[in-house]
Amino acid sequence: MRRRIIIDCDPGQDDAIGLFLAFASRDELDLLGVTTVAGNVPLALTQQNARQMCDIANVRDVPVFAGCDRPLRRALLTAEHVHGRTGIDGVDVIDPLTPLNDQHAVDFIIESLRQYDAVTLVPTGPMTNIATVIQREPALLPSIERIVLMGGAMREGGNYSPSAEFNVLVDPDAADIVFSCGRPITAFGLDVTHKVLSTRERVARIRGIGNAVSDATAGMLSFFQRHDSKKYGADGAPLHDPCTVAWLLKPELFKTKPVNVSVETDSELTIGHTAVDFWHVTSRPVNVDWAYDVDADGFYELLFDRLARFGGET
Ligand code: RIB
Ligand code: CA
Repeated sequence: MRRRIIIDCDPGQDDAIGLFLAFASRDELDLLGVTTVAGNVPLALTQQNARQMCDIANVRDVPVFAGCDRPLRRALLTAEHVHGRTGIDGVDVIDPLTPLNDQHAVDFIIESLRQYDAVTLVPTGPMTNIATVIQREPALLPSIERIVLMGGAMREGGNYSPSAEFNVLVDPDAADIVFSCGRPITAFGLDVTHKVLSTRERVARIRGIGNAVSDATAGMLSFFQRHDSKKYGADGAPLHDPCTVAWLLKPELFKTKPVNVSVETDSELTIGHTAVDFWHVTSRPVNVDWAYDVDADGFYELLFDRLARFGGET
């Protein structure tokens, strides 16, 4: 039985590569739809970018939806300095053939949870859409089989502020609602995503595959990694969002631990901080399977293998 999933994203080069990984794995993942949210760039661009990834991968049967264009309470923060003005710098932006579905993303997710009794939600951007679903239809929570998210940080501290990871920082109130919802959660924070760096060698392997999807991936990585390579002085950038889809496909690549994750939603100094109680020093209830280690080579071998499914060879 294929796992039914909805990917909720803010493309963003790394979100886009996560979509490619899912597009290449339709034999295992029943991708009900792609929903988009404001984050890396405004919603008008994230929805367009998601549609363009469908074009590049020649995926014509996955509907794409636009969702919330701002966080629940706070002003939108964006990350053009990381992702470029378009959000997917590294590929030429075109007006996509894939249409935007006219249903709101939140309504689509609610409709899907009504239709199916087990849907895995995969948010890789600010969690505004997911939180809105939970707030509007709490009775549908049992239909959420699991939430597999990219967000938060423990030892890595923060990337957009000294103490907060971008997805949680943009909408800390939404993240708090999600982490507190009571459904099974597997979370990939900066501590694990910073272990899957898109090194020059790995990008060269991708470039050598030789199809439109791998070419787009190599182009986006070449742009995406320049900011973090300089910032961290590393060879390559953390490939954040594809960790979620990779876990769905090969969970054995990762190590996770049940912990409590709580979100700071008030302090202006540490807003969006995720307090990860890794050593269980509090009595806060376990609410998350926190990913803390990964077989990075195995992760990239999976990515190479799936990218090659679009043609060419690894
Ligand atoms: O902090 C990394 C996260 O923020 C990733 O999901 C990236 O795409 C941005 O949304
Ligand atoms: Ca993202």
